[in-house]
Amino acid sequence: MMPRRRVAVLLSGRGTNMRALAEAARDPAYPAEIVLALSNRPMAPGLEAAQAMGIATAAVPGKQFPDRDAFDSAVTAILEAHGVELIALAGFMRILSPGFVQHWAGRMLNIHPSLLPLYPGLDTHGRAIAAGDTEAGCTVHMVTEELDAGPVLAQARVPILPGDTADELAARVLVAEHSLYPLALADFVRSSA
Ligand code: GAR
Repeated sequence: MMPRRRVAVLLSGRGTNMRALAEAARDPAYPAEIVLALSNRPMAPGLEAAQAMGIATAAVPGKQFPDRDAFDSAVTAILEAHGVELIALAGFMRILSPGFVQHWAGRMLNIHPSLLPLYPGLDTHGRAIAAGDTEAGCTVHMVTEELDAGPVLAQARVPILPGDTADELAARVLVAEHSLYPLALADFVRSSA
């Protein structure tokens, strides 16, 4: 059997996608293990959730670094110290430098709460509702230098119901994210083995 790939989850907030990945990885047959949760926000609830699951955590506050390159180098140093092979971005709300993206090229995934190429960036759900769309969803994609534009690995769709608020739609999409991300990561690892 292939050794499980060592994955770090980078997050800035709740960390519910990190939990979904870590729960999937509790199965010894899952082809990856979550070895680190790293956040640019020391108080991110996702870090506490990771600790509660016995996952190592690191906080790297952006403010402590003179520029983005210095921040990104510090992050890479921590990831490499943990033997990280793959990065799963999960609500990591910081733009990464071109140098960081190049360093991790082909080894960094992201989940985005829209059916890319629709609605890159923020407020995906409000924009989908305002456009009168009847479906929304989420996308797992490879991270490239252009924001939310890398090759798509997997998508899941949910309906937009009449009268939906952005929060209601976000909650429905989030449920789909929690199934999609573990499947997409496993497929990616198995297909790149
Ligand atoms: C998720 O909905 C994720 O798709 C989104 O942030 C949320 C994080 O939730 N990501 C982005 O908007 C990236 N631009 P979580 O912290 O509970 O996983």
